[in-house]
Amino acid sequence: MNLILMGLPGAGKGTQAERIVEKYEIPHISTGDMFRLAIKEGTELGQKAKSFMDQGALVPDEVTIGIVKERLSKDDCKKGFLLDGFPRTIAQAEALDELLTSMGRSIDYVIHVDVPKDDLVERLTGRRVCPECGTTYHVLYNPPKVEGICDKDGAQLIQREDDKPETVKNRLAVNLEQTQPMLDFYSNKGDLVTINGSQEIDKVFSDIDEKLSQIS
Ligand code: AP5
Ligand code: ZN
Repeated sequence: MNLILMGLPGAGKGTQAERIVEKYEIPHISTGDMFRLAIKEGTELGQKAKSFMDQGALVPDEVTIGIVKERLSKDDCKKGFLLDGFPRTIAQAEALDELLTSMGRSIDYVIHVDVPKDDLVERLTGRRVCPECGTTYHVLYNPPKVEGICDKDGAQLIQREDDKPETVKNRLAVNLEQTQPMLDFYSNKGDLVTINGSQEIDKVFSDIDEKLSQIS
């Protein structure tokens, strides 16, 4: 199963991705997670990405396309993959198309998690993440059992650098501009499935799952 998960920052891509990859046993390829890991490890990629991410800007296409190409060529992607947060520009979408065609593969579904932009600031500023295992929580909508502590490993939760209010505003503006052309691109190809992301987390997942069960 070859999937793309699309949506504005805070729409719930990471939250749903966790559930999808667990059920369908495919690798989760999040460009945001890959950049954050590279920053944490202090690699050259991390140094390239950091200044863009800190401003809420997009990392340049050639850098992003390069890391996805490399990741998709790994053996574990043969059984399928879930791309989360990629592609995000038409240039990225075209590069992905070209790559998949050369591999004799194609996308089954582009799942667009749709949430009105006015709800996203609260979701992003209330988000807390586990620095150890990457699990995402929300102070109101998806709190851990013990405040500030990861349910899975007991680590102290943190707030992402780019979830500070000033950066959130810019991230939303940048992504809003890119979203419509991307939706048009995949809708014209007939791959687009729009899911109402304003419902409870479990309901959003069951709507996605209903679609996916048609191809598995
Ligand atoms: P990335 O990590 O991809 O961030 P993003 O797209 O901004 O998305 P988020 O991770 O912020 O949100 P999400 O949709 O995963 O929401 P979540 O599930 O956490 O990218 C970060 C940066 O990396 C970019 O700004 C850019 O610089 C760079 N980058 C990445 N990909 C790139 C690319 N392709 N090209 C160029 N640059 C790139 O949910 C949010 C919160 O809401 C959580 O607290 C959650 O608990 C809560 N929540 C989730 N679902 C619900 C619900 N149904 N109801 C109530 N609350 C909910
Ligand atoms: Zn954890």
